[in-house]
Amino acid sequence: MTAPSQVQLCAENLSREYPSGEDRVLALAPLTYTFPAGLTAVVGPSGSGKSTLLNLLAGFDRPTTGHVLVGETDLTDLTEAQRADFRLAHYGFVFQSHNLVGILTAQENVEFPLTLAGMGRRERQARARDLLAQVGLDKRGSHLPSQLSGGEAQRVAIARALACNPPILLADEPTGNLDSRTGERVLSLLQGAAGSGRTVVLITHDREIAARADHHLSVLDGVVTPA
Ligand SMILES: Nc1ncnc2c1ncn2[C@@H]1O[C@H](COP(=O)(O)OP(=O)(O)OP(=O)(O)O)[C@@H](O)[C@H]1O
Ligand SMILES: [Mg+2]
Repeated sequence: MTAPSQVQLCAENLSREYPSGEDRVLALAPLTYTFPAGLTAVVGPSGSGKSTLLNLLAGFDRPTTGHVLVGETDLTDLTEAQRADFRLAHYGFVFQSHNLVGILTAQENVEFPLTLAGMGRRERQARARDLLAQVGLDKRGSHLPSQLSGGEAQRVAIARALACNPPILLADEPTGNLDSRTGERVLSLLQGAAGSGRTVVLITHDREIAARADHHLSVLDGVVTPA
């Protein structure tokens, strides 16, 4: 994989409270942390705040306090539209269910972010083909998501996440729906992405998968602790 430009991802006093009836839930207690390059596994029980953290790091959600810094850029300073542009160039995402566009083929799904980024047709077709080959799916380009297995769809989602060669890759339980062998394959793709200098943050319930990450965070009741 081509090495992306490197940027540092930092949380500064980052927290999130949600209203809960009369009360408030502290979904993420104030966190100051610099995410190192490489693969960071985030583990913790259901409801502990893992997705809350990831959604804040991505700028999908706004923090109650604090900042997310990507290199020199403070995500919290950007407008919604600026954040969307910034995300396209700097982030890839993989979710538990692949979130592919159902009416587009695997090839078109991978091309999609490249189209948004303004890449010309020939160049983006070639790049999407190359990305699909990297995840072992060069023969599946013309398949619709409904014609792919769960593991194949997740690999297309990884190819799509890497399309714009982002320095940051965020994955929320990408192996959650997969059997262990297919999960392995997805993990090794994420490890490959992390190996070329990216900052990859992986939420997982799977202790075996977590154990193979370079760095570890555990989350309990909204409190994130390096482990
Ligand atoms: N939009 C929301 N409004 C109110 N409360 C929320 C919202 N999103 C999450 N929460 C609460 O914040 C806490 C953390 O949720 P979060 O989704 O981050 O957990 P999680 O660790 O990702 O859990 P899981 O492993 O089940 O995905 C939970 O108590 C949840 O109910
Ligand atoms: Mg979650």
